[in-house]
Amino acid sequence: MKFKTTELKFSPIKDIQAKAQKQGAVSLAQGIPYFFIPHGIHQAAIEAISGGKADFYGLPAGILELRKRISERHLNEEGIFYDPENEILVTAGALQGLAAVLLALLSPGDELIIPTPTYFPFLNLPKVMGIKPVFVPLVGSEWKISPNNLRSSISPKTKAILLCHPNNPTGTVFSQQELAAIVEIARKHDLLLIVDEVYRYFVYGAPYTSPGEFHKDKLRIIRLMSFSKAYSLSGWRVGYILADHLLSQEILKVHEMTATASASLPAQYAALSALTYFPDLPHDFANILSSRRERMRKRLEKLSDFFELSEPKGAYYFFVRLKSSMDDKVFAKVLLEKAGVAVIPGSTFGLGGEGYFRLSFAAKENEIEEAFDLMEEYLCR
Ligand SMILES: Cc1ncc(COP(=O)(O)O)c(C=O)c1O
Repeated sequence: MKFKTTELKFSPIKDIQAKAQKQGAVSLAQGIPYFFIPHGIHQAAIEAISGGKADFYGLPAGILELRKRISERHLNEEGIFYDPENEILVTAGALQGLAAVLLALLSPGDELIIPTPTYFPFLNLPKVMGIKPVFVPLVGSEWKISPNNLRSSISPKTKAILLCHPNNPTGTVFSQQELAAIVEIARKHDLLLIVDEVYRYFVYGAPYTSPGEFHKDKLRIIRLMSFSKAYSLSGWRVGYILADHLLSQEILKVHEMTATASASLPAQYAALSALTYFPDLPHDFANILSSRRERMRKRLEKLSDFFELSEPKGAYYFFVRLKSSMDDKVFAKVLLEKAGVAVIPGSTFGLGGEGYFRLSFAAKENEIEEAFDLMEEYLCR
């Protein structure tokens, strides 16, 4: 029997990570931040469980206290108000949020513009829903969006643009001007703009423009957030959607069906504790990541005979070009088998990623050093 998923591939990222683990290789592959989680966050979930607060289905939009805290956070940090009652939906991570958004607001046959290279699930998730992804490669050494390319990819069937800002894997942080140009195009063609901001705290020197700044276009901008990266809580599965009341109500109808009422309650209490008692955690992580980025940059520069790098302005990846003509998948395979270092081939991230590979600097310092010692030993032998 053939299914609509038959042609789909499992994420090569998980596969490479599993092989690396089996082989005892050093991994710079998976984008998981490994940071110390304050005990208070764990304790909040434990108390929610032992106090009986997590025994029954919760509100589909998430616990109100958490939504209020999220609202305060965006007001304090960005000066933008999202109504906790109507404009914030707590999800089981940003990806479940995206699935709910696409299911609710796009129909089979609609086209979704996706700048690439980008986060692997974006390439396939629309297809499962009968939505046609239209890939628009980012251009130049800084991996920017060409407004002309964006315009020419629009057809009468285009419904939305899905933007990753900062972008995984290229580290692109779109400037105020660039975002304004994208919003303008979305407005002109009456498109939704869905922005994945899971890496929004991790920017290095570049100012971060919030898509929420474009107040006039609130009715078309949907923001996807997560505790996975910002608070290093990827296993807890908590994220949220920020969107105008009218959009949120539609998304909520699907969200409550797909998340069976709500994101897990103990996890929501952990997230509430993170926001309430550890608000600086994302900034602390950003400082650590900034120094790891510098460490990795120095090590990469030493290998400039083999690689060409462009500096990521955000997220926590280097997206490096191979100077040899070796296929990126072959390179990643050989590096894993011969040098014992796991990286992700660039073509995993879609059009434009061929001939590149991705390295995560969310890995621990000693892992970064060890991986580069092994790479140097193998490449310079
Ligand atoms: C761009 C991007 N969006 C979403 C996610 C997943 O977020 P969550 O764990 O909140 O579902 C990731 C994880 O790597 C990511 O890189």
